[in-house]
Amino acid sequence: MRARIIGTGSCLPATVVTNDDLSKIMDTSDEWISSRTGIKERHLVKEETTASMSAEAAKRAMDNAGVAAEEIDLIIVGTLSADYVTPSCACEVQAKIGAKNAVAFDINAACAGFMFALNIANVYLQMGTYKTALILGAETLSKIMDWNDRSTCVLFGDGAGAAVVRAEEGTAGLLAFDQGSDGVRGSVLACRGRSNNNPLVETSKDLTYVHMDGQEVYKFAVTAVPCSLQKTIQKAGLTVEEIDYFALHQANIRILQSVAKRLKTAEDKFPISLDHCGNISAASVPILLDEMNRKGMLLPRMKIALSGFGGGLTWASAVMEW
Ligand code: UT7
Repeated sequence: MRARIIGTGSCLPATVVTNDDLSKIMDTSDEWISSRTGIKERHLVKEETTASMSAEAAKRAMDNAGVAAEEIDLIIVGTLSADYVTPSCACEVQAKIGAKNAVAFDINAACAGFMFALNIANVYLQMGTYKTALILGAETLSKIMDWNDRSTCVLFGDGAGAAVVRAEEGTAGLLAFDQGSDGVRGSVLACRGRSNNNPLVETSKDLTYVHMDGQEVYKFAVTAVPCSLQKTIQKAGLTVEEIDYFALHQANIRILQSVAKRLKTAEDKFPISLDHCGNISAASVPILLDEMNRKGMLLPRMKIALSGFGGGLTWASAVMEW
């Protein structure tokens, strides 16, 4: 029995903001953003919410899989920017799509959130607890950006991606997984939540936003990701040469190029969505996977490696046969 992705979907907000648009409201330029990151534009929410984009991505994934809402047993959303503290985004999605038989909850593993959610589903499916899961990565990062901090706000975007995962007999599906966390280095990419406001303390009204030490996160990514991918490929009984595509978290094109170099493999095996999406944390991997799926790039028996990495610090990789 294997956990197999049988359908994908995604949803981006309607509003596109180019690098040139940003250069009109802050001290930045298309030249700086494009050359340092590969990002050219991103989608930012106006009316959309994390749950509304998630529900749309979920419907598209269910359509693609040919699965009805009643068949979904489990919904997990990887997110750090849900609309509410409670109910969870997953419970909102459940209500919006009418998946009345599902168990629903969110997890926060930042940019590795979709990958962590996928492995949780994998374990449930392997155990036989559930048969059909809906796994999402969804973010409205624009609401937790400091729009006066050009070193972070130009990098991120909003959106949601989804995959329907089903327990199936056969060789296709998830072959191997690797996950890790390093809380000691967590402060290099952080966004503090509400501070204490009980009657015993003086309350601070300070709102806090994402803060990132870009160079430290960069160094972490280019060492942890190739190592995790190598481990996962080996666990799957495969070699780097046998992997058809590497669908990685979309933070910076230079990170993708560096991972390709460290794995001694071709850069064109690393599809890209960051040019038109920016970095959408947990949503990056499922949106990229959906774009690859809809372009017809994913063929039966292909071997695909996935990896997410970021805040926590957290990282997770998977190898699957499509
Ligand atoms: O999703 C979670 C994982 N996240 C990541 O993997 C992000 C990893 N880090 C990175 O991708 C890169 O470190 C960044 C893209 C964030 C930054 O690139 P960098 O080459 O490390 O640039 P830097 O932070 O060293 O900044 C270089 C210069 C600075 O100016 P000085 O001090 O050299 O005069 C910045 O002030 O670029 C300046 N700068 C900007 N200039 C124009 C910073 N942001 C901007 C900007 N526009 N938006």
